[in-house]
Amino acid sequence: MGIRSADLGGEEEARGVRDNDGMTTMTYRTLGHSGLRVSAVGLGCNNFGRPGAATETQEGTDRVLHAAIDHGITLLDGADIYGYEYGRSERMMGSALKGRRDEVVLATKFGHAEYESPLPHADAKGSRDYIRLAVEGSLRRLQTDTIDLYQFHTPDPATPLEETLAALHELIDAGKVRYIGHSNFAGWQLAQADLLAELHAHPRFISAQNEYSLLRRSADRELLPAAEEFGVGVLPYFPLYNGLFTGKFTREGGPQDSRIMRQRPHLVENAPWDRIEAYAAFCRVRGVGMLEATIGWLLSRPALASVIAGATTVEQVVQNAAAATAWTPTEDDLTQIDALFPPGLDYGVA
Ligand SMILES: NC(=O)c1ccc[n+]([C@@H]2O[C@H](COP(=O)([O-])OP(=O)(O)OC[C@H]3O[C@@H](n4cnc5c(N)ncnc54)[C@H](OP(=O)(O)O)[C@@H]3O)[C@@H](O)[C@H]2O)c1
Repeated sequence: MGIRSADLGGEEEARGVRDNDGMTTMTYRTLGHSGLRVSAVGLGCNNFGRPGAATETQEGTDRVLHAAIDHGITLLDGADIYGYEYGRSERMMGSALKGRRDEVVLATKFGHAEYESPLPHADAKGSRDYIRLAVEGSLRRLQTDTIDLYQFHTPDPATPLEETLAALHELIDAGKVRYIGHSNFAGWQLAQADLLAELHAHPRFISAQNEYSLLRRSADRELLPAAEEFGVGVLPYFPLYNGLFTGKFTREGGPQDSRIMRQRPHLVENAPWDRIEAYAAFCRVRGVGMLEATIGWLLSRPALASVIAGATTVEQVVQNAAAATAWTPTEDDLTQIDALFPPGLDYGVA
């Protein structure tokens, strides 16, 4: 019997989607303790506007985003800072979504502590003032009245979390935001946020976005157990380790037009290739591609809601969507994967 992660709020539902090539099956899950249903494979939107990628242009972005929707993907994960210029990726998403806004669950983020923002912030991007400004900009760029999932990008040590929660509560009451999530929180911060929300009668965060992949498993130690305990849905970022687990890389390198070879060759240089080659053999024996095995493994993890992989071409996003139902690991498969990539451990440099 295969393992799929416990769906926190309801049954996993499979639905056929009619696309140009025939029929695709996508599965849908509830995001944490909410009524929000999202596709098990989502689309990360940090490639839109990325220099050198096929999605640097609006045309390239339109193609990938429309193919995603046509193949059953509903969750789009953006951020105000994506696109190599504040707001650029959101603007491209807004333009691509003209006439199709209602087909997606639109997620974006505000308040990354380490990236430049043109808005006044006084180094407190979780403050009420900053959130009020940030949301208006995202709504305008995304050309929408409501953001389905508004995520706090990184913790803000300068602002009490009560204030951030109260400001987000106001946005929900005003109809500008439907649900809230956080990102890059530690397990204890997830627990603290949930208890503070309950104490002050604020809406609770329904999702946690943290780095998680076969080479980055430290979230196994605190974050995933905390998310499971509090009913928070996990959205893993860099789920394919920037594309390393798509099967197109070897210890010698990979396609020159890939993000890794263009921008982050150290990821190939520092990767534990003996383990990755053993994993490739594991996939071959089971007759499953590395990408499909990796997405299947992620979907088996506790509390994991949707794999928000990025994509730069239509072929990639179609393959990723199909991977939602391609392979389900057994207990024995999971034990063997744990032996190759031990739970709780991080390899290499991100
Ligand atoms: N919350 C945070 O702090 C944070 C941080 C980072 C990212 N994120 C989110 O997480 C999302 C996912 O991360 P990511 O996109 O950076 O990394 P990723 O999902 O690990 O890797 C995506 C990259 O792998 C390659 N790829 C994807 N599917 C492929 C396929 N089927 N075949 C071959 N290559 C394929 C593409 O790059 P190439 O074509 O260039 O090879 C793609 O851009 C982001 O888009 C963003 O929404 C959040």
